[in-house]
Amino acid sequence: MELVINKTNLNGMIDIPSDKSISHRSIMFGAIAQGKTTIKNFLRGDDCLSTLKAFKDLGVKIEDDGETITVHGTGFSGLKKAKEAIDVGNSGTTIRLIMGILAGTDFSTELFGDHSIAKRPMNRVMLPINQMGAECSGHDGTEFPPLKVTGTTTLNPIQYDMPVASAQVKSAILFAALQAHGESVIVEKERTRDHTEDMIRQFGGEITVSGKEIRIAGPQILTGQEVIVPGDISSAAFFLTAGLIIPNSQITLNNVGLNPTRTGIIDVIVQMGGNLAIQETGSASNKAGTLTVEKSHLKGIEISGEIIPRLIDELPIIALLATQAEGTTIIRDAEELKVKETNRIDAVATELNKMGANIEPTDDGLIIHGKTPLHGANVTSYGDHRIGMMLQIAALLVKEGTVELEKAEAISVSYPRFFDDLNKLYR
Ligand code: S3P
Repeated sequence: MELVINKTNLNGMIDIPSDKSISHRSIMFGAIAQGKTTIKNFLRGDDCLSTLKAFKDLGVKIEDDGETITVHGTGFSGLKKAKEAIDVGNSGTTIRLIMGILAGTDFSTELFGDHSIAKRPMNRVMLPINQMGAECSGHDGTEFPPLKVTGTTTLNPIQYDMPVASAQVKSAILFAALQAHGESVIVEKERTRDHTEDMIRQFGGEITVSGKEIRIAGPQILTGQEVIVPGDISSAAFFLTAGLIIPNSQITLNNVGLNPTRTGIIDVIVQMGGNLAIQETGSASNKAGTLTVEKSHLKGIEISGEIIPRLIDELPIIALLATQAEGTTIIRDAEELKVKETNRIDAVATELNKMGANIEPTDDGLIIHGKTPLHGANVTSYGDHRIGMMLQIAALLVKEGTVELEKAEAISVSYPRFFDDLNKLYR
């Protein structure tokens, strides 16, 4: 599709779509808890709809009246063998987290997804859950989907030092540990988003977190709850960036979830000299806020170490931000970008360089030399929603020519209203 170009004066307010990570988990917790869970502000993006459908396939009754989703929880033991293989679409969160839940069932499940899922590494989940007693294997003896997971009702607890910083892997192990007999101890490589830990507590479970060490004893019975999903800071990131780089702009984003394990982008904006105001609206345990940004004079910085998992999904749009900063921005320790929906190190460098950026891809990140004007080009999202949205924000800076985006439809994975929201800012 042809992207919108050459904008100034982006002004207005956007209600940010609901958090993808929390929406997935709300269905999963609703299913494995006893009794009814109601979910408000569920993200009806393709990925979360894959999770909803997967649990219907596993025999869970889920109703959607357009406003509230009601999950009639079966508890872990009430899940039923799916009649057919479960399709996770493009969703890494669905396939990885569900593996931990399926580890404790007394049946086998086949899981498959799209072209991108077939290339995502799964050993990171398979190894620990197999160590706990499940039997999970990939296609033709590889670690790649389609996968088959055969559960066992006698899961063993695990002591596990995580080799990668990944909330998906941690969450899968926690779901298995909730069903195991005894105490599991998981040590994170770096602290990652902690929504699963929060929701275990919210659903009446017990878990102890001390720095990077997590202790959890099983088996546990969880109880249905009311979940209200906050806005997704990872979706807000696109309009935060637009407001900071498009001349004469001021954009306000309402109801953005501000869980501290997710707010690395705020630290980066402040460090780069961005003009950002935060008005907190949530509670101490459920931080949220209204964020307002203005066009700012930005400077390059180094982004590495413990902050990386706190902004891992925002790195493509942060790279665009850095193309508009004075000086060099260096992103290190982000090799995980290579195994996202696409290789995001290569995708960001290749596509933005086509538009005139000066970005060097490295083994574990990007070196971005700013500040560069951008021009028209034919670009692709590679089927990756976050690359697609980043390229649309980049196109706003293009003064003449056209920007033609291939595979724009991927954007509906996390932000179905993206183009409508953008449109509201310049009408
Ligand atoms: C997610 C964890 C992250 C993130 C993904 C969502 C989650 O993946 O990139 O978009 O909901 O747990 P990794 O666990 O692979 O880092």
